[in-house]
Amino acid sequence: MKKPILASLALIILAGGAWAADDDKAIQALVDQYISTGYQQGEKQHSERLKQDETLKTCSETRNKPSDDQAKTIMEREKATIKYPEGNKMLGNWEKGKEVFNTGFGMRVGVIAPDKADKPRGGNCYACHTADPKEVAAGNIGNSLTGYIKVRGNSEEVVKYTYEKIFNSQSYVACSNMPRFGHNGVLSPEQIADLVAFLVDPASPVNK
Ligand code: HEC
Repeated sequence: MKKPILASLALIILAGGAWAADDDKAIQALVDQYISTGYQQGEKQHSERLKQDETLKTCSETRNKPSDDQAKTIMEREKATIKYPEGNKMLGNWEKGKEVFNTGFGMRVGVIAPDKADKPRGGNCYACHTADPKEVAAGNIGNSLTGYIKVRGNSEEVVKYTYEKIFNSQSYVACSNMPRFGHNGVLSPEQIADLVAFLVDPASPVNK
């Protein structure tokens, strides 16, 4: 799925060189067209997902470098979207969280077989983070989460921060590279609470 889009973008960028700078709008329209026509597979993959909200627009326009004022606006707006689990129980079950952290299932639209919409989704967190030191297939776009509570402790504030961060990464870092898992409806509040437990429970392998 990624490849055709990347190839298209490369073409657009090459073509862009030949165009006058004030053709930016035409290029943008072409990019939008390629993305919207290249992104149609998947069960219940509504094209609504392609529409940028105000936050993503600002991030695109500023190439992820919002001004201080823009960043403040984004963080306030994103924070206001956060929903909490039943009874404000932000600390779930670390064993379930381990599973959610690991699995990449859900909302993928690959050419082989798009994910079915009715299976529980995962966070694919290892794509960007290290966590359980035994897991070697881990990425480094995000910082290491190994030994999470050694650095941060596991006070109520840390639990709340971790929950909010995973629900909506941009409530703390405007234009973060981390997806807004709760905000985008990828993970439920309960799944996020389980992820919090995976990170802050002293019994979790993350903290061993
Ligand atoms: C596409 C990459 C990416 C994915 C996937 C991702 N993250 Fe992140 N994450 C980041 C980046 C980059 C940062 C640092 C910048 C920031 O704080 O927004 C970060 C920061 C964090 C932080 C804050 C760490 C701190 O030092 O305070 C937590 C907690 C976190 N991620 C948890 C998760 C969890 C749990 C998942 C899976 C549900 C996840 N991340 C998936 C990229 C990612």
